[in-house]
Amino acid sequence: MSIGIGIIGCGNVFPAYMRGLAQYDEVRVVRCSDIIPERARDGAAAYGIPRWGSNEDLFADSDVEIVVNLTPVVEHVGVSRAALEAGKHVYTEKVIAMTSAEAHDLVRFAAQQNLTIGSATDTFLGTWGATAKHLVEENVVGDLVAASACFAHNRVEVRHPEPEPFFQPGGGPLFELGPYFISALVHLLGPVAEVSGKTRIGAPVREVKTPGRVGDRIPVEIPTHSTALLTFETGVIATAVITFDVWASEFPHRIELYGVDGTISVPHPNWYDGDVKFARRPDGWDDKWEIAPSIGSAPAAAPRELVRGPGVLDLARSLEGGRHQTSGQLATHVLDVLLAIQESSDTGDVLKIASPAAQSQNL
Ligand SMILES: NC(=O)c1ccc[n+]([C@@H]2O[C@H](COP(=O)([O-])OP(=O)(O)OC[C@H]3O[C@@H](n4cnc5c(N)ncnc54)[C@H](O)[C@@H]3O)[C@@H](O)[C@H]2O)c1
Repeated sequence: MSIGIGIIGCGNVFPAYMRGLAQYDEVRVVRCSDIIPERARDGAAAYGIPRWGSNEDLFADSDVEIVVNLTPVVEHVGVSRAALEAGKHVYTEKVIAMTSAEAHDLVRFAAQQNLTIGSATDTFLGTWGATAKHLVEENVVGDLVAASACFAHNRVEVRHPEPEPFFQPGGGPLFELGPYFISALVHLLGPVAEVSGKTRIGAPVREVKTPGRVGDRIPVEIPTHSTALLTFETGVIATAVITFDVWASEFPHRIELYGVDGTISVPHPNWYDGDVKFARRPDGWDDKWEIAPSIGSAPAAAPRELVRGPGVLDLARSLEGGRHQTSGQLATHVLDVLLAIQESSDTGDVLKIASPAAQSQNL
């Protein structure tokens, strides 16, 4: 099989998808589009994509079976819905939508049309996801009690050419970084049942340092620091710090799973690979870490080079009968958790999260 892909949105993350998807024979990018036509033209020329044009051209192209939606967050629902209406399967960048109602509607609409919708983040499909999940399933550190995750900063105003949206509704650490951590935790621990959170704005104005933009100032419109307490359906309790306000820290920027007999340490989920370590309860005082033999596969990448695409492949394989791991249901559950962190902070309430299994039965 070689399934035709159409990419909408030829901006910052587009090259990472082109580098990643080029590694798989099962998919081929046949067309791209962008609201700024020159971006689609230049993207097609740079990566040898046969056709480019408007979104409407892309929807009308019968070779496009899966639309990959790489537009900004505020555009996700409109573009994904239009693609589904055109009879295309959809893979959308994170987050799937900005509201829970929109996300649930999209997933329901896709099911009604007999189409599949999937969503980033997909990094748990790489080696660390398979390796850590195997350790959990093999009960290597005993029953799990708790977990912690810390994602401090992505230095967006230092590196991004257009950092403004990161400090406006649709951006912020919860939507920008949160999906990696919550998807990873749900992959390893199962669904979240209960959420409480606290968020706040740190610096009210961000100073841009990106070359060409040095000296620009961005008023911050949304919380940039969040701390969450998540209780999973299994009873595991996780703490997560997701923030743009910590410039340096010696917290492990990893996920740790604490079992009654030891700890599993999982690498930063922005990437597909990295060592998974575990340490069993020691007899003495010293922790004794072992690196777990790596299982599964990750796209080839130069260190730290941004490569994306396994989630698109996951969707393509699901159309051939494979299990769909980066599903719309997962993305909707992750979004519900992220929104609940904010709502809990606003209201002071501890919020229950509807089980994704129960919701799937209503599709
Ligand atoms: N997975 C990752 O590692 C990763 C990294 C960066 C960004 N992202 C996500 O990818 C998405 C895009 O981010 P980006 O940094 O590439 O943004 P960007 O602003 O650089 O690019 C978005 C592109 O979409 C185009 N566009 C906007 N609205 C459109 C529409 N209605 N129809 C067609 N084209 C439209 C813009 O002209 C632009 O070229 C966001 O959802 C972001 O959260 C993911």
